[in-house]
Amino acid sequence: MELHAFSFGALALLLATAAFPILALAAAATPFANADAAMGIDSTCTKPYVRKEWRRLKLDERKSYIGAVKCMMAKPGVAPLDAVTNRFEDFLATHIVQAFVSHFVGIFYPYHRFLLARYEEELWDCGWSRDLGQPFWDWTLDVEHDDDLINSPVFDVDTGFGGNGGWVGGNFTHPAPGMHPQLTHPAPCPLHLPRSSNPPQDVPDRTGGGCLQNGPFADLSTFLGPQNNTEKKGRNCLRRDLAPVSLRAMSGPDRVAEAMALPDYGRWERVTDGASLHPGGHWGPGGLYGTMTDLFASPGDPVFWLHHSNLDRAWWSWQTRDPARIYDISGPLVFFDYDNKEAGNLTLDGIVWNGLGDFRKETTVERLMHIQRGELCYTYDELY
Ligand SMILES: *[C@@H]1O[C@H](CO)[C@@H](O)[C@H](O)[C@H]1NC(C)=O
Ligand SMILES: *[C@@H]1O[C@H](CO)[C@@H](O)[C@H](O)[C@H]1NC(C)=O
Ligand SMILES: *[C@@H]1O[C@H](CO)[C@@H](O)[C@H](O)[C@H]1NC(C)=O
Repeated sequence: MELHAFSFGALALLLATAAFPILALAAAATPFANADAAMGIDSTCTKPYVRKEWRRLKLDERKSYIGAVKCMMAKPGVAPLDAVTNRFEDFLATHIVQAFVSHFVGIFYPYHRFLLARYEEELWDCGWSRDLGQPFWDWTLDVEHDDDLINSPVFDVDTGFGGNGGWVGGNFTHPAPGMHPQLTHPAPCPLHLPRSSNPPQDVPDRTGGGCLQNGPFADLSTFLGPQNNTEKKGRNCLRRDLAPVSLRAMSGPDRVAEAMALPDYGRWERVTDGASLHPGGHWGPGGLYGTMTDLFASPGDPVFWLHHSNLDRAWWSWQTRDPARIYDISGPLVFFDYDNKEAGNLTLDGIVWNGLGDFRKETTVERLMHIQRGELCYTYDELY
């Protein structure tokens, strides 16, 4: 399988010109009742901790969270790769190595749910409040105007993750010298369009592309990436290339509302993983050259964890709208095998694992379906 056949999405530019309706999000659904009991999964979860939107944290909480991430970056890593130098990079390394088994497959959502819960444990060990889980970035709050993204509290220079990278020219077919477009062409086609109708993977609305210029992570770099590189060669800086139109097109309130109406997990996974909410939250900060657009190495940007927390929140919002959805699972076992030509569908007894070497941990899909059962014990302060 060739690297250039992968990318985070396909429909961004088709959607980019869509009008932007201000759309009231549906009121949070009342979390169902009996589905978990019917599954017979015991739970010791009596006091779920609360994942909150970044801007609903107090300023000192935001600083404390950033301090916990920096603490992870100062702890030794355990993954058996020379390029891994700290605990934060243990997560980046497992995501790189597992990229093909955890994206465009049924396990995409449970895999990332598990990875987030493990990241949270490391944050707690680094002083983050146990009452607060991994905060999330609600993209829909930053898409009304083009400058909402750069002005978002998430990208604040003091109490957020820093803003943009400096401007770097070029485009997908003619990148600036020495630059790697993180998007690839042709992209896999997640919906029903023929591959040849995919738009070119350019991001004309992007605004940066260089190394992160400011904020608490301005000096961050890693040997890991770009793409699937796990060798200890040169260091890569953290790049941002904010693309507000792409974010709105794929992760705006209208996309969220459409996603909530998808009838089953198979459709939910296929559409939101490949064509809307998931690529939107990656391309928005990552543009053409940015770390977040890198299918493999995107967890090298600390904002990855806020994006994926919101994606998990979107899944839980979708799940809790109908008790039948709580334990609904399917989707390909093999990368992009949406027609089940190579293998069947994921089931609840499927194994989910992450972590390399001594960092490895595994569980079953079933134990990750309900956020207060099995492996998990958290809630969100608001749902879609
Ligand atoms: C990384 O990608 C390259 C290019 O497609 C490929 O040749 C190589 O086998 C990949 N390495 C790993 C470790 O997957
Ligand atoms: C990409 O840049 C090249 C060189 O400047 C230009 O000729 C080409 O038209 C650009 N492509 C797009 C899609 O804008
Ligand atoms: C896989 O699941 C989808 C629903 O997500 C279903 O339509 C399809 O028939 C299933 N494929 C197989 C081989 O069971």
